[in-house]
Amino acid sequence: MPTPPDFVPASQCEILFSEQQIAERVTAIGEEISADYKDQSIVLVGVLKGAAIFLADLARSIDVDNTFDFVAVSSYGKEKTSSGAVKLIKDLDVPIEGKHVIVVEDILDTGLTLSYLRKLLLQHKPASLKIATCLDKPERRLVPIEADYVGFKIPNHFVIGYGMDYAEKYRNVRDIRLYPEIPTGH
Ligand code: PRP
Repeated sequence: MPTPPDFVPASQCEILFSEQQIAERVTAIGEEISADYKDQSIVLVGVLKGAAIFLADLARSIDVDNTFDFVAVSSYGKEKTSSGAVKLIKDLDVPIEGKHVIVVEDILDTGLTLSYLRKLLLQHKPASLKIATCLDKPERRLVPIEADYVGFKIPNHFVIGYGMDYAEKYRNVRDIRLYPEIPTGH
């Protein structure tokens, strides 16, 4: 994908949540999950690509047995309407039947991706299914869905870093920053 001509260096984007703030929230969520699933084992299902970094940190903050897997859905774009046209691009590698599953997302926005995935994963008959998201933008929701574990609730700003991209860039930025002049989307 070509670099947009108006590409802004990450250092010029305002920090919304610092690396340290993120680490503290992820640790807290990890502790909450460890308490909720005491003496059980869980499968973390990350949604590529944005959730990869949150999942990597979250998995290491959890001290109950856990394994992880990834799914991928059609990329954020025009085809995603309120009709919920989301497509699975990469399926699970391991069966989740009878397992306690936590779907891990970087951001819950319109909710279309997670409502599609929740329905799909429930067909595999997990013992339970919960959702963990690093960011939640409640005001953008088109379908009713909430996460069980939320890092931060944010208003409708376009954000980058900590796995989140603009034109595939900035995923490696350590903190979460506001990207200027993108009115909609994540
Ligand atoms: C982002 C994010 C979620 C989805 C949330 O993915 O990772 O999967 O959008 O949006 P929704 O609630 O409106 O469905 P994106 O399509 O940008 O792909 P990426 O994870 O590869 O960046």
